[in-house]
Amino acid sequence: MFILDKLKQTLEIDDLILLRKEIHNISQNIISDSAKDTVFIKSELEQILKTQTIERTKYYIKRLIKALSEEKKSRYNDLNLHRWKQYEHIITDSLWVFENRDTSGAHNAKYWGNFIPQIPNQLIQRYTKKGETVLDPFVGSGTTLIEAGRLQRNSIGIDISEEAISLCIENLSKEKITNNVFTELVNEDSLRFDLSKILAKHSTKKVQFIILHPPYWDIIKFSKRESDLSNCKTLNDFLSSLEKCVANFYDYLEKKRHLALIIGDKYSKSEWIPLGFLSMQRILKFGFRLKSIVVKNFEDTTAKRKQKELWRYRSLAGGYYIFKHEYIFIFQKV
Ligand SMILES: C[S@@+](CC[C@H](N)C(=O)[O-])C[C@H]1O[C@@H](n2cnc3c(N)ncnc32)[C@H](O)[C@@H]1O
Repeated sequence: MFILDKLKQTLEIDDLILLRKEIHNISQNIISDSAKDTVFIKSELEQILKTQTIERTKYYIKRLIKALSEEKKSRYNDLNLHRWKQYEHIITDSLWVFENRDTSGAHNAKYWGNFIPQIPNQLIQRYTKKGETVLDPFVGSGTTLIEAGRLQRNSIGIDISEEAISLCIENLSKEKITNNVFTELVNEDSLRFDLSKILAKHSTKKVQFIILHPPYWDIIKFSKRESDLSNCKTLNDFLSSLEKCVANFYDYLEKKRHLALIIGDKYSKSEWIPLGFLSMQRILKFGFRLKSIVVKNFEDTTAKRKQKELWRYRSLAGGYYIFKHEYIFIFQKV
């Protein structure tokens, strides 16, 4: 790489003014493979030019050489930590606020209760590498599978509802998923489904990431099937079913890898039911390490937007607050 040789040569210079002049010349003539790289290199060179001592300047030059020539990756994603400044699109805060849903390609909001694609997108980038496998036991309309395909990860989606599976097939048919990854879809009950057969088909025994987006108990009824989590009669039944689902797939998750739960709370008979924290406690019983609790804003649904005043009145009269957030719990298998 032209720029690498040039940077290495600057390390021979012992005069700060000459050194800066050379760095300035390099920054005027950056030739790199991608626009992202150019922005990254430019910003690093700007920092180098602001430095006041020759030692510090050389320290930053060496750091840039390292960033351009070496990779430092964790064992569970493809992010090169030598270039961490390049990943502005990766969220690291525990508060996620999205103004808009990503509606690119096959993504749409047709399936009532689907999550916004930015959720699986962020999680898959943080917790998997290209070519690894993501399991979504409550796949719904296939948001996770679409994102996994785009990011070149294998994916397996399971759903108890035939309608969801049909919609999922329709959505996936609109996406061009590269043929070096597999996408599997099954119309089954995630509390009982034997995953080993699908994995064996692809000569593997494990998945590297599980993303759980179950019904928020009975807020939306998804199907008439008895073991659909949205048909659970009691809160305890719901929590036990979720636990059963985790137990069913626990052994298939590779050690040290992650499971994410996306869930919101519900309100019933004048009482806030903390589905999120109660579910979190059930999952922790398996011995997972809790890595993060992310709070994500709830965009208004069209129905809620139309009834904004009514909701405000109800809130003031009932002494409660209107739901504006849901949770993303991140667990690591130890
Ligand atoms: C909140 S939705 C998931 C939406 C999905 N993330 C998306 O973006 O489309 C929950 C899904 O869980 C499914 N479900 C409920 N109980 C299930 C079970 N026991 N096994 C498999 N799927 C189930 C429902 O049919 C529904 O599609």
